[in-house]
Amino acid sequence: MARRRIIAGNWKMNMTPSQAVELVATLKDLVVNPDVDVVYCVPAIDIVPVAEAIKGSNVALGAENFYIEDKGAFTGEISAPMLKDAGVKYIIIGHSERRDIFGENDILINQKVKKAFAAGLSPILCCGESLALRKAGTYTEWIKRQITWDLDGVTADQVKELVIAYEPIWAIGTGETATADQAEEVCKMIRETIADLYDEATAEAVRIQYGGSMNAGNAAELLAKPNIDGGLIGGAALKPDFGKIVNA
Ligand code: 13P
Repeated sequence: MARRRIIAGNWKMNMTPSQAVELVATLKDLVVNPDVDVVYCVPAIDIVPVAEAIKGSNVALGAENFYIEDKGAFTGEISAPMLKDAGVKYIIIGHSERRDIFGENDILINQKVKKAFAAGLSPILCCGESLALRKAGTYTEWIKRQITWDLDGVTADQVKELVIAYEPIWAIGTGETATADQAEEVCKMIRETIADLYDEATAEAVRIQYGGSMNAGNAAELLAKPNIDGGLIGGAALKPDFGKIVNA
């Protein structure tokens, strides 16, 4: 069964609530494609206005972060049930910016994946290597280990609903994209890892995205690869270019 393409924008810490509503309006007619799942992962403060702004459109709502408890004395945090109630469907987990800047480790990321599923959210689980690991040639083992730890205790049925984003850190926001062959090599390896951890049917079902300086110019070549089922897009998600990626 063919996997459905999924193109998600990760807005990161960009767009005030009013800018967010404007961006949704700008992109509205550009992101229509019945064969693609289109997702906007937005900052927490934009979730409510964007949920309203995308009503009646083909766009699904995603969030960028949450904390693993349902409620309580966790000043400054928001929970998975809060996201769910606000209309969020997808949640980014394990992004390299959260791992590196905010110190999130694979134990927490694994807890987040399980909590997201328990709350009815679909995780977009990010993995990827630094430039040093790429140069050392040990990136394959590194990514396998990330996936193995992050999915500990996650069931095959859940993994079938999972999206995995391969985001080489050296390609994020740098303008340096992995070549289509480099991206395909790792996405294929991730699918084989899922087959080893689970089974062939699960590996065939899981959707794998590439992320890292994907843009209107390079999207078509990346998305043509058999193991690349979509993209997780930062900078280009904030511009009309995003529509070109959706329709690449
Ligand atoms: P850029 O597309 O800006 O390189 O960001 C990629 C990314 O980190 C998406 O999560």
